[in-house]
Amino acid sequence: MAPRSVLDPAGSSARTIEDLWWLMLAAGGAVFVIVAVALYVGLRRDPASPDDRGGAPEATDRLDGATRGWIVGGGVVLPVVAITVVLVATVVAMRTIEADHDEVDLTVEVTGHQWWWEVRYPDHDVVTANEVHVPAGASVRLVLRSADVIHSFWVPALAGKMDLLPERANELVIDADEPGRYPGRCAEFCGVQHTNMDIDVVAHDEAGFAAWLDEQRAPAVAPTDDLTRRGLTVVESPVCANCHTVSGTAADGTAGPDLSHVMSRAEIGAGTASTDQLRAWITDPHAIKDGVLMPAPDLSPDELDAVVAYVESLE
Ligand code: CUA
Repeated sequence: MAPRSVLDPAGSSARTIEDLWWLMLAAGGAVFVIVAVALYVGLRRDPASPDDRGGAPEATDRLDGATRGWIVGGGVVLPVVAITVVLVATVVAMRTIEADHDEVDLTVEVTGHQWWWEVRYPDHDVVTANEVHVPAGASVRLVLRSADVIHSFWVPALAGKMDLLPERANELVIDADEPGRYPGRCAEFCGVQHTNMDIDVVAHDEAGFAAWLDEQRAPAVAPTDDLTRRGLTVVESPVCANCHTVSGTAADGTAGPDLSHVMSRAEIGAGTASTDQLRAWITDPHAIKDGVLMPAPDLSPDELDAVVAYVESLE
């Protein structure tokens, strides 16, 4: 897994942002050093020297040339130059990132929910959650919306942050250089479980991406024995189906993540729990992710066994 760092870019937008980051650090560092040196020299100056005018009432009226030079140079010219350099570099970086929107290979719709991500591929009839799968090297347009409050999509290795708003769609174009898993998370406080709202971008080689699309497009695995058949019956009942969809079944809720291929994902609960914790999650999601909008379902022990067995089969 790639590090979650702006200084380890793996895509063109992130590289532009990294260059700008280093320029800002250099400019800020240079100004800091100049000011620190000037302060040090000023503090070390001998108060008895003829240059010193400290405290003398006439000092403010008659500044010599050198003093005026320091005030104009350090107080006006230096900030104007430093801020102009950073401003121009920022505008150039923004235009570079914006230019990448023109031609894309794939569009993915990402909707932020408290506290998970809905991910749709409108041209491929695929719906998943908390993972954006892309072909490496391709430019991918993310159409970002929110179902509730403001969230922010941030995968530092690939691009800058972009807000997800309820009233309008924002766009972000990403391109991953190499196949790999690029971790990200929500970067805008959105409620009690804001910190547990992870999103990963998973980049595949071309064949791997085509295979992933085929797997996700296929209907959910059908139950093969009595236990999983019983599980499907429960999943199709309102207790699960009010919120979750399983393709090819009567469960078609949309308030929660699509479960058709949930076990193909690395984690559940948007990065909160591993798929090994499925039973604990279904039993009482609040014990794992306090405040999650999924209620603990009212299931008998037999029903719980059946649901766990069925959901575990949804590769
Ligand atoms: Cu969604 Cu913070």
